Amino acid sequence: MQVLVFGSGAREHALVWGLARSPIVDAVVASPGNPGIADIATCLSFDDAMESLDTFDLAIVGPEAPLVDGLADELRERGIAVFGPSRAAARLEGSKAWMKEVLARTEVPTARHATFTTAGESAALAYLETLSGLYVIKTDGLAAGKGVVVTESIVEARDAVREYLAGRAFGDAGRTVVIEEGLTGPELSLLVLCDGTLEGVPLAPAQDFKRVGDDDSGPNTGGMGAYSPVPIASDDLVELIMDRAVTPTLATLAREGIEYRGVLYAGLMLTPDGPKVIEYNVRFGDPECEVVVPRLESDLAVHCAEAATGRLESPVAFRDDACVTVVLASPGYPSDPQPGGVITGVDAAGALDGVMVFHAGTAIVGDDLVTAGGRVLAVTALGADIPTARAKAYEAADLISWPGLLRRSDIAAGV
Ligand code: AMP
Ligand code: GLY
Repeated sequence: MQVLVFGSGAREHALVWGLARSPIVDAVVASPGNPGIADIATCLSFDDAMESLDTFDLAIVGPEAPLVDGLADELRERGIAVFGPSRAAARLEGSKAWMKEVLARTEVPTARHATFTTAGESAALAYLETLSGLYVIKTDGLAAGKGVVVTESIVEARDAVREYLAGRAFGDAGRTVVIEEGLTGPELSLLVLCDGTLEGVPLAPAQDFKRVGDDDSGPNTGGMGAYSPVPIASDDLVELIMDRAVTPTLATLAREGIEYRGVLYAGLMLTPDGPKVIEYNVRFGDPECEVVVPRLESDLAVHCAEAATGRLESPVAFRDDACVTVVLASPGYPSDPQPGGVITGVDAAGALDGVMVFHAGTAIVGDDLVTAGGRVLAVTALGADIPTARAKAYEAADLISWPGLLRRSDIAAGV
C-alpha cells in the first residue's frame, strides 16, 4: 500500500514513523513533510503530491486547517480513500460556536457558555460579569491552539474580549468569541477512530500540558508535552466518555447527514461533577499523537485504511509500555517565537534506546539543522512505566540544544 500523509509537524512525523513499520505499507510519502520525516519517507510539495494522487491507496490528513478547508472532500472526489473528516464534519473544530451548538443539541456535559460577535461587545462584557472567578475566552475560528485565554482577572478577560472582537488578536477568527465558565480538574485527551458509523474506537487516553511554563504557568500553547497511559483514565471512564459524549455526538452529526471518518479528539476536563467536553478536534492531537502512536501494538495503517474505506474491524491493541514526550520550543514561543537557532544533539538523542525525536519545526540550512517554528522537536521515549519513560525523555532532551531553547521541566512529573 502507498500512503500519503499531509502535514509537516511532529504529529505527522509520528504518523509516518508508525505507518512505515506496517507490513502492509510499501511506501509512505509526506507532503510537505519536514527534515525528520525525510529521513524515513519521501517528501513532496503539496502541488507534486496532488499531481501524483493516483499513485496512492490512502491519504491521511494530519492538521486541522486543510480539513476545515475541505481537503478530504477534494481527495474523495478524486477517488482517493481518505482518513480525515469532511469539511462539514471538520466544522466541529473550525467553529467553536457551532461545536458548542452540537454539544447542546446532543446534551453533552460542557462548560456554561455564550457566543458573541463584534456587534455584541457590550453583551459579551456583561456576560463576563455572570461568571465567577475563572474566565475563558475563545476565538470561534482556528488559532493554532493559541486562541484561548483562561484567566482569574476580569480586567484581563475584558481586554481579551475587546481585542478578539475588534479583530486585533486573531483577525477574523476572533471576531466571534465563545465566553465560558472556567472549569477545574485534570484534563484528558481521548482520540477516537471513526469509520462513518456510530461505533468509534477509542485509542489509549493521553494527557497534554497546554501551558508554556512549569506548574501550568503562562499562556496556552499547542502543547508542551504529553504522556500515555493516564492512570486516572480507567476503562470505565473511557466507556462513560464514549457513551455520554462521543457516540451521541456522532449520532447528532449523522442525523444532520454528516459522516465522520478519521479521528475525533475529545478534549475533556475531569471536573468534580464528572467529565465535561471542553473541545472537539478533528485530527490527532499534537503532541498526544507522539505518545499514542509509539504505544500502538496493532497496525496503524490497517486501522487508518479500515476507517477510510470500510469498517474498523481489526482490534486496536496497545503495549503496556508508557510513553512520554517533551516538546522543545523556540525562545519567545508561543507569542513571538524566534527561529533560526542551530540545533545540536538530535542524532545522539535519537540513538538512545526507546527514544524517538519527532521533528515539529525544523529546516536544513547549509549543513545545519535549524529551528524553523514555535515548537521545534518532540523528544519521545518509551519505558516500562511513566517515571522510566519520563527520565529517558529528559535524558534525551538534555542532549539537544540551541540558543534560548524553551521546554517545561515538569512533563509527566509525579504521575
Ligand atoms: P481548547 O482550545 O478549547 O481546547 O482550549 C485550550 C485549553 O484551554 C484547554 O486544553 C484547557 O487547558 C483550557 N480551557 C479551555 N476551556 C476551558 C474551561 N472551560 N475551563 C478551564 N480551562 C479551559
Ligand atoms: N494538544 C492539543 C491539540 O492538539 O489540540
